[in-house]
Amino acid sequence: MTVTLRPLDVVILAAGQGTRMNSALPKVLHPVAGRPMVAWAVRAARKLNARNVVVVTGHGAEQVETALEGQGVIFARQEQRLGTGHAFICGIDALDDHKRADVLVLYGDTPLLRPTTLEAMLEDHRARGSALTLLTGELPDATGYGRIIRDEHGDVARIVEQKDATSEEEQVGEFNSGVYLMDSRAADLAHRIGNDNAAGEYYLTDLLGLYRAEGEAAHAFKLSDPDEVMGANDRAGLAELEAILRRRINARHMRAGVTLQAPDTIRIQDSVKIARDVTLEPGVILRGQTVLSGGVTVGAYSVITDSVLETGVVIKAHSVLEGAHVGASSDVGPFARLRPGSVLGEGVHIGNFVETKNARLDAGVKAGHLAYLGDVTIGAETNVGAGTIVANYDGINKHPSVIGAGVFIGSNSTIIAPRTVGDAAFIAAGSAVHDDVPEGAMAVARGKQRNIEGWSRRYWGGMRGKMQKKLPWLARWLERQEEGEQGGGGQ
Ligand code: UD1
Ligand code: CA
Repeated sequence: MTVTLRPLDVVILAAGQGTRMNSALPKVLHPVAGRPMVAWAVRAARKLNARNVVVVTGHGAEQVETALEGQGVIFARQEQRLGTGHAFICGIDALDDHKRADVLVLYGDTPLLRPTTLEAMLEDHRARGSALTLLTGELPDATGYGRIIRDEHGDVARIVEQKDATSEEEQVGEFNSGVYLMDSRAADLAHRIGNDNAAGEYYLTDLLGLYRAEGEAAHAFKLSDPDEVMGANDRAGLAELEAILRRRINARHMRAGVTLQAPDTIRIQDSVKIARDVTLEPGVILRGQTVLSGGVTVGAYSVITDSVLETGVVIKAHSVLEGAHVGASSDVGPFARLRPGSVLGEGVHIGNFVETKNARLDAGVKAGHLAYLGDVTIGAETNVGAGTIVANYDGINKHPSVIGAGVFIGSNSTIIAPRTVGDAAFIAAGSAVHDDVPEGAMAVARGKQRNIEGWSRRYWGGMRGKMQKKLPWLARWLERQEEGEQGGGGQ
């Protein structure tokens, strides 16, 4: 643990337009692994225990500010995009003078930057007593980046922007990532930056010369993995960031004891929590505030959002869960859908083509096939037969129903809400239950059966001509029926 002597303020530059995204959404709000790019920068700042986090907004400022609402971030508007130096001034000037501290500059479009890398950089910066530390990387071809030109001591002498670079400088592979750590002089020095360069912009990189003029050396902290500062200029770049981040998240879970079958096909958002000995089958998607406890298995191509799965739960292939809580040892699917407010107790069995919504199913409830259970509580051990529908909607309002424990609901029954079915009641198959059912009672709510003798022979007999080809078995049956009648006459 390093002792943090001075506080840290973080300025995140996020005013740029990102024209090549070709999008109504500001570039920094495009999500990567489930989190807007700029939110990754805010998260990194938080992990460093930053005192103030300033986000400089410009293009789509209102949208960006709305997206980051409630995260304790200070916003600074950059009305015109006059360059990174100008953007920094907008950001740092949003903070009070007397509160000045060390300053870290981040970009809003580099979501791969690891907080641990920044921690190491901060430690290095403070250990050296550096006034200015630059985060640099090395690429075989650093086209597009500002190049790092070192002096004879190995200190950073200059940063040359692509537009201003000579062909010799273009050969340099070490590049400026745009991430800087600076002491509290940065705010005052930045106001001296001019715009006399090929782009006519205020370059934040000019701070380097200003610090050197103060007699301070600039140090470089070099990334071992230059991918960390990769940004995205278009959708293809975004997909690349997504792929790298997804692989990183998957690797983290595998190290922590989670089995991922065909990990390249599995997508887990960063916010998801997974315990040891969970197994994820191919194609699984886990999103939002999802929490999986030990021993859970999630079947192929299931999509789980904002749901909690207790120990030993088995989700079978192609199930979709959102806002559900599934009790220990329950099994769900294949092809099940648990919608928000579904709360399942221990050992609940949900089979194929069962949909639940705002439904509490107590321990041991079984709904094996083809059911809709909405706005309902169902007591322990109740058996929900195939085809059961809780008709909760009258066309305008939703109504709640309460079904007791130990109830047997026969197949293809409709429970017309609002309804109460007492404990240990029995509902005959095919019932339309429109009255409450008392405890222990049997409800039969369907038409009485009548059998009409000889009906089939009369019906098919009228279509005999067409039957030979289409229904040969039935045609022979009809013949036998008629022969039997003649035989009965005695020849
Ligand atoms: C800048 C650096 C360059 C470095 C590169 C790394 C300067 C002069 N150059 O290049 O040395 O290699 O980053 O990617 O700083 N932004 C604003 N307002 C502005 C301009 C930019 O908020 O007026 C933001 C952008 O949204 C972006 C970041 O600053 O997040 C960098 O801007 P960009 O134009 O990509 O930087 P470059 O000038 O290309
Ligand atoms: Ca750039």
